[in-house]
Amino acid sequence: MTVLVTGGAGFIGSHTIVELQLAGHQVVVVDNLCNSQAESLKRVQQITGQAVAFYQADICDKAALTRIFGEHQILQVIHFAGLKAVGESSQIPLSYYQNNIAGTLTLLEVMAAHGVFDLVFSSSATVYSPEAKVPLTESSPLAAINPYGRTKLMLEQVLADLAASDNRWRIWLLRYFNPIGAHPSGLIGEDPNGIPNNLVPYVARVAIGRLPELPVFGDDYPTPDGTGVRDYIHVVDLARGHLKAMENMGSGCQVVNLGTGQGYSVMDVVKAYREVSGAEINVAIKPRRAGDLATCYADPAKAAEYIGWRAEFDLRTMVEDSWRWTEQNPAGYGS
Ligand code: NAD
Ligand code: UD1
Repeated sequence: MTVLVTGGAGFIGSHTIVELQLAGHQVVVVDNLCNSQAESLKRVQQITGQAVAFYQADICDKAALTRIFGEHQILQVIHFAGLKAVGESSQIPLSYYQNNIAGTLTLLEVMAAHGVFDLVFSSSATVYSPEAKVPLTESSPLAAINPYGRTKLMLEQVLADLAASDNRWRIWLLRYFNPIGAHPSGLIGEDPNGIPNNLVPYVARVAIGRLPELPVFGDDYPTPDGTGVRDYIHVVDLARGHLKAMENMGSGCQVVNLGTGQGYSVMDVVKAYREVSGAEINVAIKPRRAGDLATCYADPAKAAEYIGWRAEFDLRTMVEDSWRWTEQNPAGYGS
């Protein structure tokens, strides 16, 4: 089957393409490379030995999408393309609404015009209300607290309305927890531009010597060691969740969490990274980061029941794979 992957050159997209190709699917990618490099797709081809049909184009460009759908017999779409930096989203909200919302609306119009109604959408645990109790289930209360989160929540509502209006649509909303790690080959991984916002890419750069120390945002949370607790999930597990969703489309618009159900603290991650890398990894305790929660982890039971998926890899494996990618590519794809 031919699958269109938007944002396929990015972190989660590139890992998902590997799993798609290994499962025998043909992959077409549209990505404008605003937060990635085409090198990731060359590496994917190195892993799988299979070609990716790549279009450097923007999902807001209706003519380009129309041409792509005209050139391939696309049956399903996995939609990763979007901007994702929480802090930046408050500084340039219009870019977030344009890219994430307008881009998705354009994609949906072109899909419908070509009779393609199966969609797997990247949502986020960020749509859950900060007041919601852990573990978070799919029916926990929702509330977004920044423009990035609002784009995800709005798109979930758009997609539910769309599926309710026309029963040809089959949509999975996948709410990711904290994807980390890298492909075990060490050929593809996470390569953020500039100073990383997220914990594991930051720790990796301290371990490899590109940054001097890790700022730990708060050690006075009501958690076992005082640092924030999150549900880290191996990006390969996450990628496989997309295949399971595609194979179990069901009907209408449905939602599942993709998480492990297990929380680890900032210092648990630092400790694992020190053990695996042998690096010292200096830390500096800083004030809490605005908008952060003490504890966030999933109840992953619904994904097991509805799409037959559960995460397999533990924190140690996530850190080992992150470190292999970092050591083999100390400057990311720019190495
Ligand atoms: P990423 O930035 O590595 O990948 C996104 C890709 O989309 C990039 O290659 C970028 O160049 C491309 N892109 C962005 N806007 C585009 C546009 N208008 N047209 C075409 N391509 C465009 O991010 P990722 O971590 O792989 O995340 C993928 C998706 O998952 C995003 O929608 C993100 O919001 C969502 N998500 C990510 C996380 C996470 O922690 N990484 C957590 C929850 C949800
Ligand atoms: C962040 C986003 C969230 C998004 C998620 C996945 C914010 C406020 N939230 O979540 O919307 O869905 O990424 O992409 O940005 N930490 C440090 N030092 C650092 C970096 C992080 O101590 O340099 C801590 C954080 O305080 C947190 C934990 O590490 O306790 C994880 O942080 P991060 O990787 O940024 O993910 P989230 O905050 O869960």
